[in-house]
Amino acid sequence: KETVLSGIRPTGYLHLGNYFGAMRNYVKMQEDYNCYFFVANWHSLTTHPDTKALQESVYRVIAENVASGLDPEKVALYVQSDVPEIAELYLYLNMLAYKGELEKTTTFKEKAKTQPDNINAGLLTYPVLMAADILIHRAVKVPVGKDQEQHLEMARNFAERFNFRYGHIFPEPHAFNFGENLIKIMSLDGNGKMSKSENQMATLYLADDDDAIRKKIMKAKTDSGPTTPNSIKPDYIENLFTLMKIASTEEVYYRFDEQYNQCTIRYGDFKKQLAEDMVAFIKPIREKAADIQNNKELIHKIIKQGADKARASASATLQEVRKAIRMIY
Ligand code: TYM
Repeated sequence: KETVLSGIRPTGYLHLGNYFGAMRNYVKMQEDYNCYFFVANWHSLTTHPDTKALQESVYRVIAENVASGLDPEKVALYVQSDVPEIAELYLYLNMLAYKGELEKTTTFKEKAKTQPDNINAGLLTYPVLMAADILIHRAVKVPVGKDQEQHLEMARNFAERFNFRYGHIFPEPHAFNFGENLIKIMSLDGNGKMSKSENQMATLYLADDDDAIRKKIMKAKTDSGPTTPNSIKPDYIENLFTLMKIASTEEVYYRFDEQYNQCTIRYGDFKKQLAEDMVAFIKPIREKAADIQNNKELIHKIIKQGADKARASASATLQEVRKAIRMIY
């Protein structure tokens, strides 16, 4: 079985971008792959130094993943900081990562703009820690959204550099999505990607209640509609159709797609349908996640079990890494 790994930062409520870009694939991959999924709580410190809400956020990410269908018996579902082997690999990889390439990373440049007073070393070496997350299990497939593509490219570079210098230990990891391009879900206001911290009215969270879901979808950006048959959809309309693909039946999706192509679509009806189907989609996840999150005994059992599996794999890799670098005395 091929090894799969992916992570989510516990920096806020999970949304449909996380679900559609990543979590949905975790669930689909758990049967056929050797899977490691984790909560990236170390990564969250690069942007969220205040940790008052961190613990509850970590529990929520675990709960929402299990509620979305992830089976902790089938996969290793763990918290990053429970696996100290990752930190040691991060240290070695840091010696192979150059300041110039780290400074050129798109996410680094963005964060440096949004938090000019806190351009910390962790932020700069974020892609190195991410490479360590992946390489510690020698994962080859990494289910992520489009925004992580550059980080994966860097992970490949660090792996290759390590292999070249110390001997071949790491396979090449690649960003993964089933048969399609990597996904980017846009914000409902049409401004950039849906994200944990952007405009909350334009972000659909897995924890949103029914009314919030309806309100947000009805307010989603549209326009006066297509005027020529079979025209290309503007990206904010395409985005709503993408959301319809997760929440609605194929029959419903194709009905509205056909109406779009024939210029007979009424966005009011389209959004009402999408809103109701989205309510039906999110509600069971929200309710199940809330139950799990309230059951701390269960959560602790899950993350303990996950940490044990992850550490077994991580320490095996680290042992080889130490041998390769001659760090065994
Ligand atoms: P994070 O926490 O920002 O997001 C978690 C996952 O959700 C995907 N995602 C999206 N996909 C499509 N459209 C969107 N609008 C959208 N927003 C988020 C992300 O691509 C991601 O797959 N650096 C990672 C966490 C991480 C990680 C790793 C991932 C740390 N180590 C190792 C993979 C492998 C991050 O910040 O994801």
